[in-house]
Amino acid sequence: MTLLYTSDPARGRIWRGIFADEAIGFAEAGDAHDPASIRYLAAWNPSVELIATLPALEVLFSIGAGIDQFDMGRLPDHVRVVRMIEPGITQGMVEYATMAALMLHRNMIDHGIAQREGRWAPIKLVPASERRIGVMGLGNLGQAVLGALRPFGFALSGWSRSRHAVEGVDCFAGAAEMPAFLTGCDILICLLPLTDDTRGILCRETLTQLPQSAALINVGRGGHLVEQDLLSLLDDGRISGAVLDVFDPEPLPAGHAFWAHPRIVMTPHVASMTRADSAARALIANIRRHEAGAAMDGEVARSRGY
Ligand code: GLV
Repeated sequence: MTLLYTSDPARGRIWRGIFADEAIGFAEAGDAHDPASIRYLAAWNPSVELIATLPALEVLFSIGAGIDQFDMGRLPDHVRVVRMIEPGITQGMVEYATMAALMLHRNMIDHGIAQREGRWAPIKLVPASERRIGVMGLGNLGQAVLGALRPFGFALSGWSRSRHAVEGVDCFAGAAEMPAFLTGCDILICLLPLTDDTRGILCRETLTQLPQSAALINVGRGGHLVEQDLLSLLDDGRISGAVLDVFDPEPLPAGHAFWAHPRIVMTPHVASMTRADSAARALIANIRRHEAGAAMDGEVARSRGY
């Protein structure tokens, strides 16, 4: 069994060592290898041409948490698809979402504006117990973020397509319960997968169901957000601020209104990144599960798109 790796070379060097220790064949695109021996591919966005050269391919492993970059329609039906679930990605997302939620909770966007204008403008504190934070997407990352926010005492809720139960979190499911969820989120965090159903889900219709002056954190995908809707809601004060890490396209084009918007804090898709060592070990554990005929962690239902 051999894995073909086509991603960041620095991470590849670490993976090569770990795969050697585990006695699993490992090849990078530049290595001499027999394409017919490749059963596993670890990649971010492999070309259709590359996949066509791998007749024995069984599993396509995403290097990242998302799989929306794959062209599923052009992937042979029998190839299984697995997203990356590993502690490094989870830790990064927990840090970023907590940082962003605390920033919004503690009015840092308004304090930043006042600072730049030279105004001394105290804002009355709202206790965490009176701040309602809602997470859309209750997968591994959404649940980890809620778990990290819980000790602060925030009032937490979560929404997902299918019913979930998360300790200490008021959970909502499906389109029918979305309005009830949205009306209770002072801070909304998007951690959904990008699918045909979730593209554009952060739009005027949903964002105007949030309480007056609510704030948004988007760490899902740029495609979740209808940018013009957010801009107009920020400009008329309906939404008070946004922390955005993902954009469509990336990089965000020069001159885009987000760059200089006083009520947007943006970062260049850095909320969370795959950590080389823990990702290699998570992937190897999945290969072992697959070889034993067991279910892989993070396997995607291809028809569902996540
Ligand atoms: C990053 O966005 C990832 O999918 O890991």
